[in-house]
Amino acid sequence: MVLNMAQTWHQSRPGEVRNDCGGCLSHSQKPTDFNLTAAAKPTYVPFDLTRRTPLLTTKKNDQSGKQWDINDETGLRYVTGAFNVEYHRDIKPILQRSCVACHGGKAEEPAGGLVLDDESRQPGQNPPGTYRALVHPKDTKSMRYTWPFQSRNRYLTWRIFGRRTDGFPEKIAPGTESDHAGHLARGGLPFSPSKGSIMPPVDAVKSGKVAPLTDEDRRMIVRWIDLGCPIDHDFDAKNPDRRGNGWMLDDQRPTLTLTYPQAGANKLLTRIVVGMYDYGTGLDMESFQVTADFPIANMAAGTNLAKQGRSKADGVFEFVLPARAPVMTKGTLTVSVCDRQGNTTRIVRTFSVGP
Ligand code: HEC
Repeated sequence: MVLNMAQTWHQSRPGEVRNDCGGCLSHSQKPTDFNLTAAAKPTYVPFDLTRRTPLLTTKKNDQSGKQWDINDETGLRYVTGAFNVEYHRDIKPILQRSCVACHGGKAEEPAGGLVLDDESRQPGQNPPGTYRALVHPKDTKSMRYTWPFQSRNRYLTWRIFGRRTDGFPEKIAPGTESDHAGHLARGGLPFSPSKGSIMPPVDAVKSGKVAPLTDEDRRMIVRWIDLGCPIDHDFDAKNPDRRGNGWMLDDQRPTLTLTYPQAGANKLLTRIVVGMYDYGTGLDMESFQVTADFPIANMAAGTNLAKQGRSKADGVFEFVLPARAPVMTKGTLTVSVCDRQGNTTRIVRTFSVGP
């Protein structure tokens, strides 16, 4: 579970404007001294997140072959590309399978007064009823089950683990109860040892009424909360793989760099070198284009050199000119590539070659 999240958003993305001073000026906690962290040790190998995403798991499912905690209970497994957790795709099926047998809206008295299969939508409100109940309590008196970005702190997490997970002690020292009433409150929920059983209740699992939550199910719910409880408002149940225009949309353009030729003066030009990467949907290599506005090696201006060059390394394209490019005072090279969502990055480079 995430220990501490960014407290406000930090960057603007294309089309966004930031009009306040949060981010830099809204920190309320003493920062960790980097020198004291495991990541500062010389032996620490950084994760290359462009290749695969490491996910915590049980030791049984470990793919890393390393020890991560003192008791050696934790494992790492890997998935390729970005890992997303979304309400309709990942959370609802877990609730359906292990919870609605008791928390169904059709029951006369849904368990605990909590309905976990409410698909109703209120006018002007897109999230279905269960999402609203879990994430947006209707008033200050209603239970706040989750706190987006802070899975450790809230009741839904405590109930699926059967204990508090925020690091606060289950029992407070005798005689100090009254001191704790106020400042141990988390998000308005005062200190109390977790009440009730683990969910789903052990008896219901034993009797075969519902399937238990697996370790991965619990982590899925926790990751969902720590990502801010994403929900795809463009989800189509008949077409669940479609990314649509909602949360699942890849709205980031590919990263694209052109190393040679450099902008401005180049003494020589012997090769064209391009670097490219896309984290979301991945590059659509069919869309890759490299064109010059001058003839190169018997090829007319405007020929797509992308087909002529070669992949030199992962994400690196190279086109070696058969002969040096002639001296020229102005040439233009245009490089572009799309990701599979259709976002395009384009570089138009003007340069000269020669003394
Ligand atoms: C066998 C029936 C049963 C199943 C299955 C079940 N629950 Fe419960 N749940 C209850 C009962 C009964 C209560 C009320 C008593 C209590 O709080 O322990 C409850 C209470 C809760 C509460 C507290 C509600 C409140 O406002 O106090 C939460 C949260 C919860 N369940 C979540 C879940 C989740 C999530 C699942 C599925 C992973 C689940 N439950 C599966 C029977 C069930």
